[in-house]
Amino acid sequence: MRVLVVGGGGREHALCWALAASPLLTKLWCAPGNPGIAELAECVPIGATEIAKLVGFAKVEKVDLVVAGPEAPLTLGLADACAAAGIKCFGPTAAAARLEGSKAFTKEVADAAGVPTAAWARFEDPAAARAYILQRGAPIVVKADGLAAGKGVVVASTVEEAEAAIADIMESRVHGTAGASVVIEECLPGEEVSFFALCDGTTALPMAAAQDHKRVGEGDTGPNTGGMGAYSPPPAFTDALRDEAMDRIIRPTLAEMAKRGAPFQGVLFAGLMLTGDGPKLIEFNVRFGDPECQALMLRLRSDLLPALLAACDGELSRFDLRWEAHPSLVVVMAAEGYPGTPRKGTEIRGLERAAQVPGVQLFHAGTARREDGALVADGGRVLTVAATGQTLRAARDAAYAAVDVVDWPGGFCRRDIGWRAL
Ligand code: AMP
Ligand code: GLY
Repeated sequence: MRVLVVGGGGREHALCWALAASPLLTKLWCAPGNPGIAELAECVPIGATEIAKLVGFAKVEKVDLVVAGPEAPLTLGLADACAAAGIKCFGPTAAAARLEGSKAFTKEVADAAGVPTAAWARFEDPAAARAYILQRGAPIVVKADGLAAGKGVVVASTVEEAEAAIADIMESRVHGTAGASVVIEECLPGEEVSFFALCDGTTALPMAAAQDHKRVGEGDTGPNTGGMGAYSPPPAFTDALRDEAMDRIIRPTLAEMAKRGAPFQGVLFAGLMLTGDGPKLIEFNVRFGDPECQALMLRLRSDLLPALLAACDGELSRFDLRWEAHPSLVVVMAAEGYPGTPRKGTEIRGLERAAQVPGVQLFHAGTARREDGALVADGGRVLTVAATGQTLRAARDAAYAAVDVVDWPGGFCRRDIGWRAL
């Protein structure tokens, strides 16, 4: 099997790591990849959103399977373009990727499918949005309707905060056109988990769940990020809750998407709030989470490659996945300034020694090689340090032992990943 992974972050490094272990693999490329991925795959200098170039490359190289990491190429039609070229692509069509691309679309699908989710309304007019906020009161959640790199959501604890979010998103357009409309939602109380299911258009196969730490600061404070750390499995998400999520959220959504002529193939990532009334849907993503994917790949005992192929081929009903019972934990190391403007170019040392800590896997995200070969920071989230252990505490200790070996004065991490479960 000749496989092309699209993307270049920690998630794609973990996917390449899992795929590289498959006996079915004969050749692995990653576009654009990163210096860590380059140790496992041939990196191709094509950006993740350059759809025509990606498909052209896949044709020339007779790629058997394209694996989409991030959502952007999917919303731009990577899977559609691959299908037109007769190439298998793991990931949904642009029509099905709207589950992530538009929050209002997700809410419509959820309502039509009877999926439990927060009460909501959508506004294109800031004055109407403000009036609704005043009527509903706080706490309340304001979301830019379009894609905003995971940063378009404000969980407002006061009406003033919610009104400020309307000004930022709709009037100052801090997230660009993603803020042309907003979705305003009831604030759901509870613990949040990221749940992943492989889908082949008609059948869904539960994968595992993880808990992400989205806030930049310890104790889950400060601005939202793409995710500062994760662990799997989250103890609060019992097997019974998983079955309920499959029956009430994942399967009805899959059926509704098929009914709409946009069957979903790929990995459906459900952000769930575990409320007193059971799991409720916060959002869907149409890809693996980052850093949740790193936590999942460390626990996956089955070969990833045939599972992704089964999703593409509509054969998941005959498939099963085995998971390591032991937990995994991931610490994200970010460049100073993140999630604002991260400082680029600072040098990172000590990764070889850090990778030797037992149970640890290092995945690169925003790293680059300087001309002299030195490894430098080149993004916001720069490294993910993942570890498994007999217990979550052991996994955490291993991950932080490796973090402490990384010599990178220009970076920081949260020291409390996993605190809710420990
Ligand atoms: P989203 O981008 O939709 O995942 O939102 C980002 C984060 O905001 C989520 O991970 C939640 O922590 C929080 N959030 C979003 N919607 C709600 C809601 N209805 N109630 C409570 N928290 C929410
Ligand atoms: N870590 C959350 C996400 O990937 O969207």
